[in-house]
Amino acid sequence: MRDEQGGPVLSVRDLRVAFRTPRGLARVVNGLSYDVEPGRTLAIVGESGSGKSVGALALLGLLPGDVARISGSAVFDGYELIGRDEEEMRAVRGAGVGMVFQDPATSLNPVLTVGRQLVEALRAHASMPKDVARARAEELLAEVGIPDPRSRLEAYPHQLSGGMRQRVMIAIALAGQPRVLIADEATTALDVTVQAQILDLLMRLQKEHSTGVIWITHDLGVVAGIADHVLVMYAGRCVEEGSVDALFERPVHPYTRGLLGATPVVDDPRPARERDLLVTMPGLPPDPVELPEGCAFYPRCPVRADVRCRTEEPPLASVAGDPGHRAATFYTPEGV
Ligand SMILES: Nc1ncnc2c1ncn2[C@@H]1O[C@H](COP(=O)(O)OP(=O)(O)OP(=O)(O)O)[C@@H](O)[C@H]1O
Ligand SMILES: [Mg+2]
Repeated sequence: MRDEQGGPVLSVRDLRVAFRTPRGLARVVNGLSYDVEPGRTLAIVGESGSGKSVGALALLGLLPGDVARISGSAVFDGYELIGRDEEEMRAVRGAGVGMVFQDPATSLNPVLTVGRQLVEALRAHASMPKDVARARAEELLAEVGIPDPRSRLEAYPHQLSGGMRQRVMIAIALAGQPRVLIADEATTALDVTVQAQILDLLMRLQKEHSTGVIWITHDLGVVAGIADHVLVMYAGRCVEEGSVDALFERPVHPYTRGLLGATPVVDDPRPARERDLLVTMPGLPPDPVELPEGCAFYPRCPVRADVRCRTEEPPLASVAGDPGHRAATFYTPEGV
């Protein structure tokens, strides 16, 4: 396969999404760029409202066309996704780029059996007779660890537990053998044991199929365990990105340091990833209708400098001596 010789399977460049709202234009994604490599996991983290889901939905053509303005580029396997019509995007979804949505309760159809939904997903991507699709659907349920898959095909979503529904969502996303899988808070609602099982399952399937994964989450604990590269979003921008080690051990941006609880802890001898990771940060992110001039994190920043940070937007710049690690801040922490 082309991409396995190197090079990303998905390249996003300067992605921007704005919504027309009664209060004015809400600028939700503001110049996002990243690559997804085959067989690797990119984690996208950030607070609620930072544009994580909108950024993913934009790639798949799933935002309401009448209010969303999208610009930039997203090249999947040599094919530009931005600006495609619905029919072209339908061909890409599932077969090319699969997505496990944030809320399985709303993304599974409550009036159709699990089997019917899986068979439809399978037949949407490859012409196959119904009985072949049905056999494949049963296999897929088994693959995602659902016991007694044959009888589960007859179940309706409400008859399954949250963990089982999430597995069904994953099976549907995998039905078209996507090269890129976007998992949006795919395990956040589940208890820790089920979450661990689903993570194991996804990592195994990813390895087998060399799938590129975008893992969207609040849960930094999960990120440390599964991601290769991490991108931290704030107000629709990447404020810091790098390898898992760089982000957890050598965070630079005051927002990332705040998320990790790194700022107030000066002499905690444990490595950052062993500490309680997600501390609540005081203050609120900016209103996307009224983004501030200068750095969007300025009002909450514990180390802001007066004039420059308020008037100038810090560019995403390489961190010296740390390849692939970039941060958008004028601040340089001590010892970095
Ligand atoms: N159709 C829409 N019209 C106007 N604003 C929207 C629309 N859809 C989303 N938004 C706004 O876009 C912003 C980003 O939303 P998004 O769902 O991407 O956040 P998120 O980072 O995924 O948050 P969470 O962690 O809660 O899932 C929010 O302020 C939201 O209100
Ligand atoms: Mg979201």
